[in-house]
Amino acid sequence: MQKFTNGVPMDGGNGDEPLSNPSTAPHFQEVLAARISRRSLLQGGLAAALGGLFGGSAAFAAMSEGESPTTITPDRVTLLGFSPIPVSREDTVHVPPGYRTQVLAEWGRSLSNPERLYALPLTAAEQADAIGSHHDGMHFFPIEGSDPHHGSSHSGLLVINHEYVEPRYMHASAVGQPLNRNAFPTVTGEGGHLHRHSAEVLTEMAGHGVSVMRIERDPAGRWVVVSDPRNRRITATTPMEIAGPVRGSDRVKTRYSPDGTRTRGTLNNCAHGVTPWNTYLTCEENWAGYFRNRAQSGDDQPREHRRYGVRAGVSRYGWELAAGDPNHNHHLYARFNAVASEARPEQDFRNEPNGFGWVVEIDPFRPESTPVKRTHLGRFAHEGVIFQPAVEGKPLVCYSGDDARNEYIYKFVSAQPYLRESAGGHLLDSGTLYVAKFTDDGSGEWLPLVWGQGPLQPQPLNQGEERDGHCFLDQADVLVNTRLAADLLGATPMDRPEWGAVDSATGQVYFTLTNNTSRTQDAVTAANPRANNRWGQIIRWQEAGGDPAATRFHWDLFILAGPSDDSRFQGQPLDASQIFNSPDGLWFDPDGRLWIQTDMSESVVNTGDWAQFGNNQMLACDPQHGDLRRFFTGCLGQETTGVVTTPDQRTMFVNQQHPGATISAEAFASGQLAGLGNWPLGGNHYGRSATVVITKEDGGVVGG
Ligand code: FEO
Ligand code: CA
Ligand code: CA
Ligand code: CA
Repeated sequence: MQKFTNGVPMDGGNGDEPLSNPSTAPHFQEVLAARISRRSLLQGGLAAALGGLFGGSAAFAAMSEGESPTTITPDRVTLLGFSPIPVSREDTVHVPPGYRTQVLAEWGRSLSNPERLYALPLTAAEQADAIGSHHDGMHFFPIEGSDPHHGSSHSGLLVINHEYVEPRYMHASAVGQPLNRNAFPTVTGEGGHLHRHSAEVLTEMAGHGVSVMRIERDPAGRWVVVSDPRNRRITATTPMEIAGPVRGSDRVKTRYSPDGTRTRGTLNNCAHGVTPWNTYLTCEENWAGYFRNRAQSGDDQPREHRRYGVRAGVSRYGWELAAGDPNHNHHLYARFNAVASEARPEQDFRNEPNGFGWVVEIDPFRPESTPVKRTHLGRFAHEGVIFQPAVEGKPLVCYSGDDARNEYIYKFVSAQPYLRESAGGHLLDSGTLYVAKFTDDGSGEWLPLVWGQGPLQPQPLNQGEERDGHCFLDQADVLVNTRLAADLLGATPMDRPEWGAVDSATGQVYFTLTNNTSRTQDAVTAANPRANNRWGQIIRWQEAGGDPAATRFHWDLFILAGPSDDSRFQGQPLDASQIFNSPDGLWFDPDGRLWIQTDMSESVVNTGDWAQFGNNQMLACDPQHGDLRRFFTGCLGQETTGVVTTPDQRTMFVNQQHPGATISAEAFASGQLAGLGNWPLGGNHYGRSATVVITKEDGGVVGG
């Protein structure tokens, strides 16, 4: 008999919203004494305290002095050349006058025959051939390009992350059933045991991962996906190499890879990065929920499960329940049950979750290449990764946020210098991983996660701490347990770090902190200044001495997002053309425009205090001249995530993730879906994640 089960959501009700840090309490102590009130921050107290740290930044000067942007740019015009648009609650996308849009790369478009858009539901074989679901981070690689900023602006490889799937839109068995966005079909077998159809699980696995597709602009100016030998799907089943200090360690030995050198698949691919040698990095964010540890919960679980939120019970999609294992597919499904069932780790899948939580390198130009998990960048809920501009002969520097409540921001500095001739993934396999400490006086420090230094010792520093697991066998152990190591160093718990962006003109690093409703008044810090933070903020910093590898930095708050009565930018409240909340996607275009995308949870969008913001949106900002304008509004139910342009900046690509996610279980069961979230096909169709192509009618630079 077919039944339907709601998975256990990541936070008990908010879909893909991530878990909180369960072990932050002791680490707030240090900042409690020095905390400042939100009121004094909004009055400019912090800004005044930080005055001058960003010397040449006019935007920072304005923030300090509370001046309007127009008074600080007498000699230069803003980079923004469009009229801002109002918020929208319509099931379509909007752009400013003078711009046009088209839809590209919909979920379900065949990559072997791109003229074909598969009808839903999809078989596993169809999904394995088709663009995946839930588009997120994305990059355009020009075909002839030698680096990410050169080459063709009319032909290239579009590479798109697929964060997760919505099972009710994938399976014939779901039709007519009361399913919400987190629910999946189950079958009750003999003895009342729950199972899942393996064919449905295979479809869901194939909907995850990354799509690589050739796109071209046709003579009429329309972009299309075309056949190409490089068109490729990477999914939750693709074999991958493990590289860096964790390769071969005991922590990643499994029945599939007894020597700990390989794993299968990548999960919950959120944002991304692009290396200076022109490869793609995909980041594993909320992977922990895909696993269960049936036998254990709470304190009985190993720390590399517990600190990341691997739970007892049924996993997010119940993949471990698929019929057919363990006799088929080399435990393709059973590996998601991470219980220690045999005598040795090489005999079971207790270490399977340790193969996830990494940054994965993919070479889109080599379809035969094996993706590589680069473990020296740490194991956590990686949102994305962003590089400082590579400088010949200098170390390579990149940043990554851990998107869960009260988690941290990290930086990696390579041991070897960047040399253009020999640069490659090996640069990411040796170096130093640091975690950020934001002090309330506007200074900051990068704390090294180096085995043998500070508290990261083979023996605990203090008597009794071995009981809490406060010791590490080696650097691999530190990296597998990155969060715990960062706890011990005293890193600053943040309001959910999402994307970062580096202003290549100044070296300043910007990060979105999307929201954190679990922050209490006692835990307020200068960098995370609001308790019950529903709206989020954008923080930025400058490395000491302008050296990206420095271990100290200066920071300030760039924007406090929110409604007009609870927001600040340039010392002023956001106005109707600017209000936004839950900043997430962030990207600097080559001219220096900062593009800001929003991800209000589908559980709150267009309800209560969130209704004034309408659907999720994208804004453009000129940080140097203090200009901020709403550029794009998305369709019903979606989040707006992923943004990049062609090198000439005359075509922009923006993703719509999970259109229709706000459709209730009752409406879904009724089958009467029209008007509730049907983009891009309209009518009574299921919503499909897809890419929006934005161009200017006069052929000019987008945003200019
Ligand atoms: Fe996948 Fe943190 O957004
Ligand atoms: Ca989301
Ligand atoms: Ca995101
Ligand atoms: Ca988000």
